[in-house]
Amino acid sequence: MKNPPVEALQYASAMGNLLVLYTQVDQFIMEVCAERISCAPGQSARLGLAKQVGDESHHVRIQQEWLEQFDVSASPLIDEPTLEHFRAHFRGLNWIDFLTDLYLVIEALGSQAVEQIVPLADPGTRESLRIPLQDELDHVAFGMRELKMALAGLDEVQRSYIIEHIPERIEHLVTMLQQLDLPIRDWFEQVGADYPEVCSRLGQRRQELFAELVA
Ligand SMILES: [Fe+2]
Ligand SMILES: [Fe+2]
Repeated sequence: MKNPPVEALQYASAMGNLLVLYTQVDQFIMEVCAERISCAPGQSARLGLAKQVGDESHHVRIQQEWLEQFDVSASPLIDEPTLEHFRAHFRGLNWIDFLTDLYLVIEALGSQAVEQIVPLADPGTRESLRIPLQDELDHVAFGMRELKMALAGLDEVQRSYIIEHIPERIEHLVTMLQQLDLPIRDWFEQVGADYPEVCSRLGQRRQELFAELVA
């Protein structure tokens, strides 16, 4: 039997890594949202977080099942001390900063990055991403709604101060993510993505969400 071409092996390994990373991030989001439920301000926030915990656990299950069939090593890419460092970061945030970091950065960035992979993916991977990506849109919408409500409850001085510092928060968290030091650029390129284009689309998405927030 002929060996598969190098590009096919590279594609499978890079796509496998991106899927493992997405699954780990979903599990992380599930955990931080679950921790927030009891202290979230108000019933709509609690119910929204609880729904998201259910959605993310569904995504983790779908992805894990697909990874088994995809036949790649599903060993974690982010180690436990790093995950704990990120959990501690989110645990220490007030509600507005929590919403900013989780929805304007992690959810928006994660779902946008995954969306850009879909057209390049094999049919099985594409199908495994269908339900998760639909739900991620709901999650970002929930986070934006809650963030707008929380900001509307502040006086003008506090509100302006927080909005003015949101780009700084975003940069800080993006820097934390870059310190993961994973060859993400290589993985995107090995599945056929134009990485600068992916980054520019991510930046654009964050700008759009920020503009929607301050409108
Ligand atoms: Fe998810
Ligand atoms: Fe999500």
